[in-house]
Amino acid sequence: MTATTAASAAYIVAGLLFVLSLAGLSRHETAKTGNAYGMAGMAIALVATIGLAWRNGDALSVGLIVVAMVLGASIGLWRARIVEMTGMPELIALLHSFVGLAAVLVGWNGYLSVEGAPAGEAEELGLPVGIHSAEVAIGVFIGAVTFTGSIVAFLKLSGRIKSNPLVLPGKNALNLGALAVFAALTVVFVVSPGLGVLSGLTVLALALGWHLVASIGGGDMPVVVSMLNSYSGWAAAASGFLLDNDLLIITGALVGSSGAYLSYIMCQAMNRSFLSVIAGGFGNEGSTSAAAVDGEHTEISAEEVAQLLRDADSVVITPGYGMAVAHAQSAVADLTRTLTDKGVEVRFGIHPVAGRLPGHMNVLLAEAKVPYDVVLEMDEINDDFAKTSVVLVIGANDTVNPSAADPGSPIAGMPVLHVWEAEHVVVFKRSMSTGYAGVQNPLFFRENTRMLFGDARERVEDILRAL
Ligand code: TAP
Repeated sequence: MTATTAASAAYIVAGLLFVLSLAGLSRHETAKTGNAYGMAGMAIALVATIGLAWRNGDALSVGLIVVAMVLGASIGLWRARIVEMTGMPELIALLHSFVGLAAVLVGWNGYLSVEGAPAGEAEELGLPVGIHSAEVAIGVFIGAVTFTGSIVAFLKLSGRIKSNPLVLPGKNALNLGALAVFAALTVVFVVSPGLGVLSGLTVLALALGWHLVASIGGGDMPVVVSMLNSYSGWAAAASGFLLDNDLLIITGALVGSSGAYLSYIMCQAMNRSFLSVIAGGFGNEGSTSAAAVDGEHTEISAEEVAQLLRDADSVVITPGYGMAVAHAQSAVADLTRTLTDKGVEVRFGIHPVAGRLPGHMNVLLAEAKVPYDVVLEMDEINDDFAKTSVVLVIGANDTVNPSAADPGSPIAGMPVLHVWEAEHVVVFKRSMSTGYAGVQNPLFFRENTRMLFGDARERVEDILRAL
């Protein structure tokens, strides 16, 4: 068996392990095993790739791979250790930008070593040069869109730039025009692969990636992150074609298609059009700011909340990003146990995009040992609010905003938790500021709503003491 055949066999095993990994990750119960399959697949892929370089007698390549791995693994381990769970989306966005950049570099390297190389070398290639040129153009395009798109997502998610959508006049025409120019440049590049054409195509794709993500508003960012995940997969698959590496093609296609499917599921959960989001908010040139909301809000003290809870039959807790920031989940779990011991029914209502990544709240509550069976999805609990004595909105804002029913609102159409239907609503937050989507929340001014200001964990602990 030659080294190449052995590597191909190892790649097939690794590919199968990646498929098993994805299957495992689709359920809570099997997620750990899924992770283990993924790690095993990646280990096999790395050993096979390094072994192949070694057998080909290329000591320099092996040396470079080892140096790159040590550097990359050290930075990766350090970042993974210090990142807060609330910072995961921005870290993921940054990592996607590296995949995009790598695809651009692989594409340019392909061009410089074939089409851009001195005459004669191009003929050594097995494929017709035209196909290679098309692979270069497509790989560079997807990579560059992913690169700048991910950087804008990183800047928005980390609060370095505003999360409002950029609305350039005729933004849809700009995006469609850029796609048409890309198609034309690709044809020109295949017919006559020149440095100028590839440079133009790269600049166009960089600008398109920037514009696509800049045009998407804060509320839709969860979908954008999973969409960029998908783009990074397609960018890796394009690099696989250029490098003639089957595993990269398989892995890229798995990441690309699973990311696209996740984006689709998230769009359905948020009542958004999938096509509109992937096309940079296509068809959505209208509203970017909701009508101003005015009114008087009423404050409440922790002791008064404790009294409300003592008198309640049923309590629903709807946590959000603020619970994660305040690390309030353990105190919330203690509150749940205390109330349950007093005979009060306590349940949780989880919005599909509460927090900063899907499943964020479920993971925090599971870590704090809140039993699974009292943690309900939005659709399972929404009809029960009208029969609930007290709702505790702990650090959530957009996910409980009744203005989603207002067609002029930037979050119009997004399904929300109908907390205002309960007898009493207590909102835990530090100020009257808006949530992630930057939209004011009329819930705070309703007659049955009370505001409990301060850090969520400190306030929950105050209530526990009062109880
Ligand atoms: P948000 O709408 O972001 O509201 C969080 C609230 O928590 C804020 O109003 C904030 O108010 C409060 N808060 C922050 N720190 C707090 C603390 N220490 N103690 C008490 N309160 C605190 O959260 P949500 O309701 O969970 O909605 C999620 C939003 O994020 C949606 O718009 C969703 O689309 C978006 N989302 C984004 C992503 C990505 S990838 N970016 C992923 C999923 C969801 P104060 O500042 O006044 O305290």
